[in-house]
Amino acid sequence: MAKGKTAGKHESAGNSAHRNKKVEIPHLISPSAKIGKNVKIWNFAYVGADTKIGDNTKIGSLAHVDYNVVIGNECKIEGLAYIAPLSRIGNNVFIGPSACLTNDPYPPSDKMVGVTVKDGAVICASSVIKAGVTVGENSVVGMGSVVTKDVPRDSVVFGVPARVVYSRDDYDSRKDKWNNSGL
Ligand SMILES: CC(C)(COP(=O)(O)OP(=O)(O)OC[C@H]1O[C@@H](n2cnc3c(N)ncnc32)[C@H](O)[C@@H]1OP(=O)(O)O)[C@@H](O)C(=O)NCCC(=O)NCCS
Repeated sequence: MAKGKTAGKHESAGNSAHRNKKVEIPHLISPSAKIGKNVKIWNFAYVGADTKIGDNTKIGSLAHVDYNVVIGNECKIEGLAYIAPLSRIGNNVFIGPSACLTNDPYPPSDKMVGVTVKDGAVICASSVIKAGVTVGENSVVGMGSVVTKDVPRDSVVFGVPARVVYSRDDYDSRKDKWNNSGL
């Protein structure tokens, strides 16, 4: 570093070595992405080319929503979620932190197939969903699950591999009980 010159806040020896090289920095939100009304996309989230995001959806910090993804209205995609290309997500869907929707069953292959998440479904933190799987309407995938098969609608699955454990009605009664309990 030249005498009398101070490094920028984020400048490191590694960065300065690359200062004069051309490094392609893609847009965090692709210009070809179609973003609905009142969508909130938090810091450092990535939204790829040709992806569509519906109205009132929120995308958390550091989420990676890849190209050619469709996300409906009123969804919450939490921070660090990975949504692979070709994923199809309905309306009112919750995708928890670090959840991973995959699209390549035998990587690296030449044939990709997206995950489908139907309306009202909840995918809890750090779950991994196999390429091509459909998570049914209003179903819940518990935290840390590995989902290898389609999830029937209105059911709660969890575990490795994920199995149906109880119903969405049971989940909603547990949730009501939780909401109404004192801490
Ligand atoms: C699916 C979920 C709601 C289940 O919780 P629950 O209904 O309270 O279940 P319980 O704690 O009564 O557990 C019942 C049994 O299943 C087990 N279990 C609960 N959740 C599990 C999970 N995700 N994976 C594997 N086993 C699980 C419990 O250990 C318990 O086993 P036991 O009977 O041998 O003791 C919960 O696991 C979950 O994912 N919550 C959401 C957390 C989250 O991701 N929030 C997102 C924002 S922070």
